[in-house]
This record gives sequence, structure tokens and C-alpha cells, in this order.
Amino acid sequence: MSSLNLPILHDLHDPQIIADPYPTYARMRREHPVWLNPASASFTVSRYADVERVFKGSEFSNSRVDELFSRVPPESRSAAEAMRPLLEPRLLFTEGERHARIKRLLAQAFSPAHLSAYECLIEARIAFLLDRLPTGQPVDFVGQVSNQLPGMVILSLLGLPLEEQDEMKDWTDNIYAWMGHFTGSIVQRTQQALDAMQGLRCRLREHIEDVRKTPRNDMLSAMVHARDAGLLLDEDELVANVIGLVNAGQETTACLLANGLLRLMQYPAQMARLRGDPELLDPAIEEMLRFDAPAQFVARRVVEPVTLQGLTLDAGSMVALGLASANRDESVFEHADVFDIGRTPNKHLAFGAGRHFCVGSGLARLEARALFRALLKNFSSIQPAWDSSAGLRWRPTLSFRCPLELPVVIQSGLPAASP
Ligand code: HEM
Repeated sequence: MSSLNLPILHDLHDPQIIADPYPTYARMRREHPVWLNPASASFTVSRYADVERVFKGSEFSNSRVDELFSRVPPESRSAAEAMRPLLEPRLLFTEGERHARIKRLLAQAFSPAHLSAYECLIEARIAFLLDRLPTGQPVDFVGQVSNQLPGMVILSLLGLPLEEQDEMKDWTDNIYAWMGHFTGSIVQRTQQALDAMQGLRCRLREHIEDVRKTPRNDMLSAMVHARDAGLLLDEDELVANVIGLVNAGQETTACLLANGLLRLMQYPAQMARLRGDPELLDPAIEEMLRFDAPAQFVARRVVEPVTLQGLTLDAGSMVALGLASANRDESVFEHADVFDIGRTPNKHLAFGAGRHFCVGSGLARLEARALFRALLKNFSSIQPAWDSSAGLRWRPTLSFRCPLELPVVIQSGLPAASP
């Protein structure tokens, strides 16, 4: 591709940029609102209006599994192809009738009626995690809470055993590391993703057989029932979408929970405001989503030539949509770099927009609401406990931007006022 000779205007793999990407996004919006990044061979779009335009435009498609395989060198490609049957039917990568059919089905599982039924389960999982936390000494919030809760919740809702959580997380991490623009050898990542896909396929088939014999009142049974009623077309469509939920339900929500607490600690006046006014919990979570979009970039393939910011994008080009940048666009959000838990309106793009809008947004919001409510109710103080001169370590990707650890010291006891 001719892009190989282009300069990298902004190195989105630079650890310093990952630690604080927002000044770089501001420069991108100002100076290069659409630019071809040779590192990812994608046109990178950073302004809110352009990101929204791509999400909603018929010139763009999310059916882009071929593009994922095109990055794999020829010697590994035929082995990698074993993953295709479990990628192509995944809701995120489908379009047209197939997308509408699967989305209708999955949306039922996250309907308001179902969500309210999940609330007690989520609160019980949170109580389990918070009860184990030591007080008065440093504890890693990421390892102990934010990386644990979303996996526990999605496995519980699907009816999968919690003892399998660590293994499931390793598998889904390896699949994401292959799908996203992570650094490191693509050959090695391909092998790890293949192993993960195979492990998940075998394990899920066992669970599917179990619920066929003895149906239960859980999401997996509902999906197996849908498959047997012909609403999901074949076993691959079923397995691919269960994997999709296990995948999508974890990393993004984990980032929201960790980054959300980090921001409340960095802005203690906002933490105090939230403690004092329970009504602010919902807008606070929207502001956490806006301020640090957990998935900072998502991708699209151009299917019809289109012009953006004066640049012509040919069919077949790839586009990287900067959700986190769009969420800091001053032309939409006044004082966009100010973390304001009372912000309204707050039409952030953290869950995407258009037909691929996140099907699990209600569940993610429910988890965040329940966790922050419990944190503020149970702990009179939550303070940073990392070495401020060294700073935090970040996951080496903007696909899911999240600290690797978040050491905190908590004190139990009733605060003066709590949500
Ligand atoms: C804070 C948490 C979450 C964030 C920030 C988030 C973000 C997103 C975004 C940006 C998209 C659109 C991707 C695109 O257009 O390319 C998306 C789609 C999706 N999300 Fe989420 N998500 C979250 C939680 C969840 C949860 C908990 C689930 C399910 C358990 C889930 C399941 C999905 C699925 C299945 C899609 C594909 C929808 C479609 O293609 O129509 N997400 N999510």
C-alpha cells in the first residue's frame, strides 16, 4: 500500500501518548482531522461530526473479517482461517438482514425487563468482591474488582460456571489481542487466538449440550432455544455470538470501572459532589464514559467512495473512528477537558452510534451504577496509593485504554453522606 511511505503524524502506540492521549487527539482534530495512519493503514477520523457521519453512513460497513486476515502473513494464513466461521457470524461483523436478525435476538436479553432482573445478581457479585478488600493498606482495584466484576456478571447471566472465569478471560483477551491493533508479533498473536478460539469452541459446545438436555433460566439456554427454533441459523452462529458476548462484556466495562474510579480520585471535588448528591450517579457514569471512552477507536471499511474533510476514501479503505477524541470535541462539549459529573446534555459516542450501537450498554451502565453506589456507601475514603512520580502503567493499546493496576487505599465506615 502506498501508505507505507507516509510519515506517522501521531504514534498511537507511543506509551507516553497512551498514558495521556488527549493532547494528541486535540492536535489531530485541529490539524489532521482525517489522516492516513501508515501504522494501521487506516484513515483516522477524530472530529465528532465526522465520526458520527461514518457510524451512520451507508458508505461504510463493519463486515471486515477479510481485513483482519489480510494482516496475517501467508505462512500462517491458512491455519488462521479456522477462526473465520466463528468471526463472520458475530453480530459486530454482520450487516444487513443477518445483523438485524441477530441484533433483535440479543437485544431481548438486554431489554429493560431483563436488566432489572439482573440487578440483584450484580449487587451480590459486587458485595462478594468488596467484602474481600483489605482496608487501610494498598490494594489493586483493577486486579481485585474492575477486571473481575464484568466477567463474573456475563458468565453468571449466561449460566456459565464462575470457576471458568480466568480461563475464559485469557481466551477472550487473546482473541481481542489478535483483532485489535496491538503491538507484538502477529504470527504469535494468531497462534494464541487460534488456541483461544478452539478452547472456547470446545468448552461452549459442552455447555450447549448440557442446556439442551436440561434447559435453565439463563441467557445461554435462551440462545440455544433460539438456535433450535431457527432464529440463529446454525451452530457457528450460536457459538460465535456467545463468544462475542463473553468478549464484549468484559474489557470495555472493566475499563469504564477502573477509569471512572481513577477520575473520581483525580478530581476529589467531583467525588465529594457525588457523595453528597445521589441524583448525580447516572450523569456521573455518562461523564466517565465521555471523558475516557473505554474503546478509544473502532474500525469501518469503506464500501463506496466517499469524501471526508476534503480527502477521498476509496472503496476498500479502512477507517479508524476516534471515539475518545470525538468525546472531547469542543465544538460539541463545552469545556470538553473538564470532568463534570453533572454535565448535561452529554451525547457521547462511547457506545458508538447507528445500527451497531452497543447492545450491552444497559448492562454496562447497570454494573457501573451498582459498583459506584456500593463503593461510596461502604467506604468513607478511597485514596490513590501509587507512586505519583512513576505514574500508572497502561495497557499497551488504545483499543481498550485502561491502567494495568490501580493501587488504592480504602477506609471502611459510613461517610457523612452517601448515594
Ligand atoms: C462500558 C462498556 C461498554 C462499552 C464502552 C462498549 C462499547 C461498544 C461500542 C463502541 C460498540 C460499537 C462498535 C462498532 O460500531 O464498531 C459496541 C458494540 C457492541 N457491544 Fe458494547 N460496550 C460495552 C459493554 C458491552 C457489554 C456489557 C456487552 C454485552 C455483554 C456488549 C456487547 C456489544 C455487542 C454484542 C456489540 C455489537 C453490536 C452490533 O454490532 O450491533 N458491550 N460496544
